[in-house]
Amino acid sequence: LARASALAAPYVAGVDLNCGCPQSWACAETLGAALMGRRELVRDMVVETRARLAADGWAVGKERHVESPRGRSVSVKIRVHDDLRRTVDFLDAVVGHPQDRLVDWITIHPRTRSTPSTTPIRTEALEILTSRYAGTLPILLSGDVFDLSSLPFKPSTPGLSTLTVEEDGLPASNAPPTPGNTNLAGFMSARGLLANPALFAGAPSCPWHALETFMCNAARCPLPLKLAVHHVSEMCGPGMGADKTALLPKRDRIRLAELGTMMELVDFLDQKLEEHTGRKGGMRRDL
Ligand SMILES: Cc1cc2nc3c(=O)[nH]c(=O)nc-3n(C[C@H](O)[C@H](O)[C@H](O)COP(=O)(O)O)c2cc1C
Repeated sequence: LARASALAAPYVAGVDLNCGCPQSWACAETLGAALMGRRELVRDMVVETRARLAADGWAVGKERHVESPRGRSVSVKIRVHDDLRRTVDFLDAVVGHPQDRLVDWITIHPRTRSTPSTTPIRTEALEILTSRYAGTLPILLSGDVFDLSSLPFKPSTPGLSTLTVEEDGLPASNAPPTPGNTNLAGFMSARGLLANPALFAGAPSCPWHALETFMCNAARCPLPLKLAVHHVSEMCGPGMGADKTALLPKRDRIRLAELGTMMELVDFLDQKLEEHTGRKGGMRRDL
């Protein structure tokens, strides 16, 4: 990890060790979720990585170096264990001393290694872990973040939270959960963001603007056709949130897979955008 991080450091803002990947090939190599059973190893990996980045001249002083152009973070993403005491032991080892912690932040995916992603996240585990560690370091949530207006948990109750705010005159218990009124510092999204890259801009489903931006980027920095079509199909489908608005109906999404070249894809989307929005001239080329 330390060597890989040193190679990546010039091109990234930080490195995050994923101790959550449940795929069998990863676990067989003691990677991903298998690392949740190896807390000393994970602690040693982050210590070694921070030391290597510091030796290479990167600024790894956490909050002290937030504004530094050479600032780099070292963070860890976890799943939970069935017995939450094991997760607490893991975090105690990997976070280290609260006054001189070993990681910049942690991301919690509140499912166990064997929980399918169709099962809702374990909000009670999240609540327990955030109330224990949020005073020590920033905590991000990963899992079922599909729409910012309907997040998969409630704002913290006053008894448990370190931060409870009133928004727009609403009592905190009725306000939507945000990093401001929970013990969470932020959200990570995978499936939701794949289907709706405008999720963090507050859009409840993918807008044409996001698709047009993606296509402009794909033109500037070409992707293999199959990969571009995969992303476009995800963006044009009904998405993961409660709002099931789809940019294209199913028959058009099936057509996507039959397109043979990037130019055919551009022509197809130009035509569909005109059809569905009534706007002339196809997709914007200036995003
Ligand atoms: C296509 C895809 C790629 C992912 N890649 C990563 C990754 O590189 N690192 C990581 O920590 N988790 C990765 N994950 C796992 C997610 O971060 C996340 O923990 C899990 O999918 C549940 O969150 P979601 O409901 O937002 O999808 C990936 C998930 C998907 C679907």
